[in-house]
Amino acid sequence: MTFVLPDGREISADAMAGASLLEVARDLDIAIEGACGGAMACATCHVIVEPAQFARLPAPSEEEEEMLDLAESLAATSRLGCQIRVEARVDGLVVRVPRTSLLDG
Ligand code: FES
Repeated sequence: MTFVLPDGREISADAMAGASLLEVARDLDIAIEGACGGAMACATCHVIVEPAQFARLPAPSEEEEEMLDLAESLAATSRLGCQIRVEARVDGLVVRVPRTSLLDG
């Protein structure tokens, strides 16, 4: 999978099955804030999924949708990075990391 940073840099990795996108990003030293540590209480792990790939992911829960409403730079294909688990259907996924989700953003 590939993370696209606000400055256009692309960071790709073979992610470990079972990890969340938030965990994968941190393993790659991408400073996504993720303030609540995956408890779905902050929306600072917000990522934007490549539109053509969005339907491959399991639908967000109602709680995730509600939390996303609080995210800055919301897009039609926004998701919480802590709620997407790496599995086969995530293979080759491309997500954009908005500046507002970065600790130094
Ligand atoms: Fe807080 Fe994902 S880390 S909602």
